[in-house]
Amino acid sequence: MKLLAGNWKMNNTLEEGADLMEALIEGLSAEAVGDVRVVVSPPYLQLPQTVHALWENAHIAVAAQNGHAADGGAFTGEVSMAMLRDAEVDAVIIGHSERRQYFGETDQDVSDKVKSALKHQLIPIVCVGEVLEQRKAGTYLAETWAQLHAAFASVKPEDISDCVIAYEPVWAIGTGEVASAAQAQEVHAYLRAQMEATFGVSDMPILYGGSCKPSNAEEIFAQKDVDGGLIGGASLVAADFIELVRILKAS
Ligand code: PGA
Repeated sequence: MKLLAGNWKMNNTLEEGADLMEALIEGLSAEAVGDVRVVVSPPYLQLPQTVHALWENAHIAVAAQNGHAADGGAFTGEVSMAMLRDAEVDAVIIGHSERRQYFGETDQDVSDKVKSALKHQLIPIVCVGEVLEQRKAGTYLAETWAQLHAAFASVKPEDISDCVIAYEPVWAIGTGEVASAAQAQEVHAYLRAQMEATFGVSDMPILYGGSCKPSNAEEIFAQKDVDGGLIGGASLVAADFIELVRILKAS
């Protein structure tokens, strides 16, 4: 399955978000999208208007950028998976490196969130990836697999097929430095093989993320185990995101 997800992060006013969505809806007709599943992930406050804008659109789905594992309660400032489902959101990004790095999210948090998302029929988009020191030390395969294993360790294998994995080397996120196609393929193939050996599941999409843009996507999307992308910066520019869908479709 081919999938392209746009992570808008903490960007855009309500109006800017609505304008971006309008441009995406116009550029991404069912025909333009073809067999690519497209996901947009606006900030929480823009979710209702985005869901509304896509009401009659069956080929673009909406993801939140985070969600709390508890169904409700005294967690000031948080939004639960149950609330996201109630708002008709389809998916949720879990364990993004910015959540891990700036908000102290642990592998245990990620595991709890994946379980909660599945309980509420949200598709988890689970992010893993090594930091620069781990890349340089040559421990990146073990580090990314450890994150992924922890995320799925207490999930039923039949539920894992419903999930999406995003490999995002932290050193490539928002830095303009992109992993080479060969570097991406190496990690994707390894993670897929480990998922098969450990959980007996290997058909979930594995996305690449980290400074992916129209000028470098062709080579990355052409890799056998790269099923699409999780796009940050380039997802804020409608023409770039639309072009990335076209490149993925043609890959
Ligand atoms: P970037 O972000 O494309 O801006 O590097 C990717 C991500 O963080 O998901």
